[in-house]
Amino acid sequence: MSILDKHKILETNATLLLIFSFLVVTIGGLVQIAPLFYLENTIEKVEGMRPYTPLEMAGREVYIREGCYVCHSQMIRPMRDEVERYGHYSLAAESMYDRPFQWGSKRTGPDLARVGGRYSDEWHADHLRDPQSVVPESVMPKYGFLEEQKIDGKYIGDIMATNAMLGTPYTDGMIEAAQADFRAQADPDSDYDGLLERYGEDINVRNFDGKPGISEADALIAYLQMLGTLVDFSTFTPDASR
Ligand code: HEC
Repeated sequence: MSILDKHKILETNATLLLIFSFLVVTIGGLVQIAPLFYLENTIEKVEGMRPYTPLEMAGREVYIREGCYVCHSQMIRPMRDEVERYGHYSLAAESMYDRPFQWGSKRTGPDLARVGGRYSDEWHADHLRDPQSVVPESVMPKYGFLEEQKIDGKYIGDIMATNAMLGTPYTDGMIEAAQADFRAQADPDSDYDGLLERYGEDINVRNFDGKPGISEADALIAYLQMLGTLVDFSTFTPDASR
């Protein structure tokens, strides 16, 4: 009896085919899913990743509230045209503190995963106020109201505490200092040593929107200028053992 003949037994008996299909799918499913429960971490650890500062976190909240993700993705796929345009493809670790993730599903505008440092703060402030003033053909809406809306970071500690509950490594000290760090990052004349101590030496401390007081535009620009800058790709080598 050839192998094809044996298979014919299955193909001509619906009940038997159903039972064997069920068995194959069950085993296949278990092989894929079961190990995930025993892995401590499914995300490769990458040097440079840190939780967002309070000001960046506030900017991220604005980004989500305004639905920027409707037109912008934050995920560079490992295809040549993408990598040439946007830079190194996105790593899973780069979204590890994003709750919820901001990968997006559609690009009306460009991917923003590595927009940090690509433009000046002034460019971002002008672009948010009136995108057509810097990119005449832009269809991006105007967000000028963001620089009028002043914020004090009162609730940012609560948001960080919630993220800590979900696993982001915010310490009690970071959460307690949230409002102070929030203010310090937007004011280069402040005493921001504590902020750098808690989050790292590379934190951008600037008056992002160029106007007095802290606005939603300050927070949003601080967030945008950080995107994609945490991992140093000049020294990054993928861990081939995984
Ligand atoms: C209706 C779709 C739409 C929405 C919503 C939108 N954008 Fe855009 N965005 C665009 C388009 C189109 C471009 C490309 C033209 C330009 O630079 O203005 C763009 C460009 C950008 C750029 C420049 C990117 C680059 O690499 O040149 C940034 C930064 C940006 N948007 C941020 C935002 C932020 C932040 C929000 C939310 C407050 C937002 N966008 C909402 C459509 C949108």
